[in-house]
Amino acid sequence: MTSPLLTLNSGARIPAQGYGVYKVPPQQTRTLVRQALETGYRLIDTAAFYLNEEGVGQAVREAIADGLVNREDLFITSKLWNDQQGYHKALHGFDESMARLGLDYLDLFLIHWPAPQQDLYRETYQAFEKLLADGRVRAIGVSNFLPEHLERLLQDSSVIPAVNQVEMHPWLQQGPLRAFHAQHGILTQAWSPLARGKLLEDPQLLCLAQELQISVAQLALCWLRDLGVSAIPKASSPERMKQNFELPAEALSPQILARIAQLDRHQRVGSDPRTVG
Ligand SMILES: NC(=O)c1ccc[n+]([C@@H]2O[C@H](COP(=O)([O-])OP(=O)(O)OC[C@H]3O[C@@H](n4cnc5c(N)ncnc54)[C@H](OP(=O)(O)O)[C@@H]3O)[C@@H](O)[C@H]2O)c1
Repeated sequence: MTSPLLTLNSGARIPAQGYGVYKVPPQQTRTLVRQALETGYRLIDTAAFYLNEEGVGQAVREAIADGLVNREDLFITSKLWNDQQGYHKALHGFDESMARLGLDYLDLFLIHWPAPQQDLYRETYQAFEKLLADGRVRAIGVSNFLPEHLERLLQDSSVIPAVNQVEMHPWLQQGPLRAFHAQHGILTQAWSPLARGKLLEDPQLLCLAQELQISVAQLALCWLRDLGVSAIPKASSPERMKQNFELPAEALSPQILARIAQLDRHQRVGSDPRTVG
């Protein structure tokens, strides 16, 4: 089984479904990423902040050496942490991530948070544009940016971010932000697509999932897929990885989509981008 591919505004193709490794302990990362690759995941989402880029790189390099995957079929994302914002620090931060990953190029590099108090994200993004021009990264983007941050960024940058990776799940549907993305050709990517597991006990989702004879995790992930949103759930067992990856092919009906639309509570399980950094 493979994930559908989405096309970024850079022309690069990204698997819609990925595997995220936030809170995967460094000593388990190599094994879990290997299991994810064996399950069929080709998009792996890490960050300098997760302290597990080495394990991601090790698993990826071994899988290539073993003939399980080709580098061209993989899509590796990493993110620059807040204390490395600024033009020169960002270039250095990228080099450090690449040294930990042990890869020749990165598929996507993201500014992890706008950190508006620092007011360095525009300068940081200029460094990202250089990395793109130098061919060190295939696409550049941002994470946790609100429309106000994107608007400022677009004013003085020549490259539109390919992706904005934000918290999104049925309790936080991000309508206005997604409309902004659609207007500018930015792909929405959902982090914590299962609301860190909390969503799985939502009684209305449980009821819908039961009707469809799928799990709540699969229902939430099908909903994102059907909205054209890329998702990067984290899971710690091969069974859960498989469940999250092997989604029913059929699109959810308009009736089911309408019922999920009613569950939006504008509720975050993660941090507010206005206050981080
Ligand atoms: N850009 C950012 O600022 C940002 C912030 C947060 C996260 N992220 C990215 O997004 C990824 C996913 O977010 P997340 O890890 O916060 O939350 P998540 O993917 O919404 O939820 C992960 C939780 O759900 C559980 N789970 C996963 N699949 C399940 C299933 N099929 N059935 C039951 N439980 C299941 C996992 O348990 P087990 O692990 O025990 O299996 C884990 O506790 C991260 O790993 C990271 O790559 C980015």
